[in-house]
Amino acid sequence: MTEAAGQCRVPGFKAGMKVLITGAMGQLAQEFQRTLPLSGHTVQVPSERSLDITDLSSIRSALSDLHPDVVINCAAYNNVDKAETDFETAYGVNAIGPENLAASCREFKALFVHYSSDYVFDGGKEGFYTEADETNPINKYGETKRSGEIRVMNAAPQYLIFRLSWVFGKGRQNFLYKLSEWAGKNPVLKVVSDQVSVPTYTEDIVATTMLAIERGARGLYHLTNSGYASRYEVARYFLEKTGANNIILPVTSDRFPSPAKRPYFSAMSTGRLSAELGCSIPDWKNAIDRYVQNVQGDTQ
Ligand SMILES: NC(=O)c1ccc[n+]([C@@H]2O[C@H](COP(=O)([O-])OP(=O)(O)OC[C@H]3O[C@@H](n4cnc5c(N)ncnc54)[C@H](OP(=O)(O)O)[C@@H]3O)[C@@H](O)[C@H]2O)c1
Repeated sequence: MTEAAGQCRVPGFKAGMKVLITGAMGQLAQEFQRTLPLSGHTVQVPSERSLDITDLSSIRSALSDLHPDVVINCAAYNNVDKAETDFETAYGVNAIGPENLAASCREFKALFVHYSSDYVFDGGKEGFYTEADETNPINKYGETKRSGEIRVMNAAPQYLIFRLSWVFGKGRQNFLYKLSEWAGKNPVLKVVSDQVSVPTYTEDIVATTMLAIERGARGLYHLTNSGYASRYEVARYFLEKTGANNIILPVTSDRFPSPAKRPYFSAMSTGRLSAELGCSIPDWKNAIDRYVQNVQGDTQ
C-alpha cells in the first residue's frame, strides 16, 4: 500500500448505477444518500417500515419494482448489550435479514453489499486481524454478525462483505457524538483504555465501497480507517480537536460493568483491500479531523 497510489477516499466510481439502500435512517445509509447522487447514481431508499429486511416478501417486492444494480445493506441491530437478552431479534436483523437480501439479489441479479464487524473476533490475537484469521465472537452481537456473513456467502454468488469497526458519521448513535454529550455535562470523563480498535468514518466507508464495486472486487474484506487506538486515545484526540478542555482519565472496562463482553484488541488489517484497490484508506486521526470540520460547518 503506497501513498503514491493515492487514498481510497478520492471517489472515482462510475456514474449511472441504480443503488438500493436498506436501513434508511442509519448513519451509514445517510452517508450513501448524501454522496451517491453527487456522483450521478440513482439512489433508491425505501423506508425501514416498507422494507423490513426480516420480511422476505417485502424485499422481493422492492427488488421486483425497482430492479437495482446493487443492493447495499446498511440495516442492522447494533445494540451490543441488548443483543445479549434480545438475541432472537438481533439474529433476525443481523443474520436472517442479510440472507433474505442475498437470496433476493441472486434471484433479481443484483450485486449484494453487506457490512459486518470486528466483533466477530475475540480480541486476543495481539496483532491486526486479517481475513484469514479464525473468527470467535465473545458476545451475542458478534455471533449474529458472524452468522450473517456465513448466510450471505452461502446465499449469493455475487457479494461483497466489509467488516467495519467503531463506525462514526452524522447521527447520534456513535461514540464521538456521545463523547460530545458527556463532555458538555461532566468536567472529568473516565474512558476505557483496554478496548482497542479503529474508529472508521462513514465518508471513507462509502468512498471505498463504491471504489470496490467499480473495480469488480468480490468477497470478504476488512474496511477501516488506518491505524488503531483505544477508546481513551480516541476521546482525547477528538475532544482536543473540538476545543473541549475536559480532563480525560483512562480506566479499565471493569469500572463500567456491561452485559456484553468486548474484545481487547480487535483492530483489523486493511492490507487485502488496499492491495486490491491500489490505494490507502486515510488514518483515523485524519478522519476525525474531517468529521469535526464537517460537524462544525453544519452548525454554523
Ligand atoms: N456502529 C458501529 O460502531 C459499527 C461497528 C461495526 C460494524 N457496524 C456495521 O456497520 C453497518 C452500518 O452500521 P450503522 O452504524 O450505520 O448502523 P445504524 O446507524 O444503527 O443503522 C442501522 C439502521 O437499520 C435499521 N433497522 C433495524 N432493523 C431493521 C430491519 N429489520 N429492516 C430495516 N432496517 C432496520 C435501524 O432502525 P432502528 O434504529 O429503528 O432500529 C437503523 O436505522 C451495520 O451492518 C453495522 O452492524 C457498525
